[in-house]
Amino acid sequence: MVAREIVRGVFWVGALDFDRRLFDELIPLPEGTSYNAYLVRGSTKTALIDTVDPKYEEELIVNLLKLGIEQIDYIIINHAEQDHAGSLPMVLEMYPMAKVVTNEKCRDLLVALLQIPAEAVQVVKDGDSISLGDRTLKFFLTPWTHWPETQITFLVEDRILFPCDLFGFHTATTELFVTNEADAYRSAKRYYAEIMMPFRNSIKGYVQKVRELNPVMIAPSHGPINKNPKFILDAYADWVSDDVKNVVVLPYVSMHGSTQKMVDQLTDALIRRGVNVKPFNLTKTDIGELAYALVDAATVVVGTPTVLFGPHPQVVYATYLANVLKPKVRFASVIGSFGWGGKSVETIVKMLDHVKVEVLEPVVIKGAPDEAAVVALNRLADDIARKHKEIGIL
Ligand code: FEO
Repeated sequence: MVAREIVRGVFWVGALDFDRRLFDELIPLPEGTSYNAYLVRGSTKTALIDTVDPKYEEELIVNLLKLGIEQIDYIIINHAEQDHAGSLPMVLEMYPMAKVVTNEKCRDLLVALLQIPAEAVQVVKDGDSISLGDRTLKFFLTPWTHWPETQITFLVEDRILFPCDLFGFHTATTELFVTNEADAYRSAKRYYAEIMMPFRNSIKGYVQKVRELNPVMIAPSHGPINKNPKFILDAYADWVSDDVKNVVVLPYVSMHGSTQKMVDQLTDALIRRGVNVKPFNLTKTDIGELAYALVDAATVVVGTPTVLFGPHPQVVYATYLANVLKPKVRFASVIGSFGWGGKSVETIVKMLDHVKVEVLEPVVIKGAPDEAAVVALNRLADDIARKHKEIGIL
């Protein structure tokens, strides 16, 4: 990788990870990712903002050496997760005079996760700033823009925001800046779904706070830099709002075809009523696409066969994940089939304790769907359409 100048004296010094396909051993990364670190040169001091995943620590150091950086005064750590802070021990080894600058919670995590000595850290509070001479870095605490210790850094004179995970997205590209907003929108929405959605209510306030800062550029720690902050701020404002769309997300598994027939029947019935449907066969789907669909869907219907006495384990996994991602979905139901009994509905509904949903009467049948099942699925489609009308989205 090569260091690149963003504006005079401010450089991207990060790493591109074209091959990474899984993040946190959980999130699929179809486009790879990047770990963006930034170097800011002031007239008297130099600061590094975040580091890179330890796998790329040598690249970061080479970038700094190639820029001729002999001294770093401050290393700003916005977030303690290893993809941004993991090279801190190496950077401190190379630049032992540098002071690590972060908030108290982040300091404690750096000590716990990376064995950074607490005395190497200069603790900042919300609204504090440090001077680099002709440039100023100002810090705002933004807990739960992934972890509880997260903060954002604003380069005051140049009005560049460094929000770490917030407003970024996973892609490895040699384009330094966002060039195609339609592509960026899709990637950023998927990233929001996977990383930020559980913290929707906190992020509402941060979007407003960032608008007030009026940045000319948003330089996150994943993905290209955004020169049109309004684009990503407007997108976030929509995603974190309470507005939902006329969409039913339908994650399901079918072992012998009965649940598949019910999914097809319900899908047709919803289409006939003007409701959009996104079915996801969980044995084939990318879980990130399911998360993406959940960002603004009004309703989720879980389809499951019965394995022994409960839902299929892949349905349990997807339901668990959907629950912890806390989408703003308003209505939920269950459809499926059993051979000799079971408690699929109870198990699934119980798992949805983080989402405030109204549960619509499920349709769970014995064996293959018959005429009575078709009537019941049409009734469920009616219920969903009526609910969508009541909240003004149909
Ligand atoms: Fe990109 Fe929460 O780390």
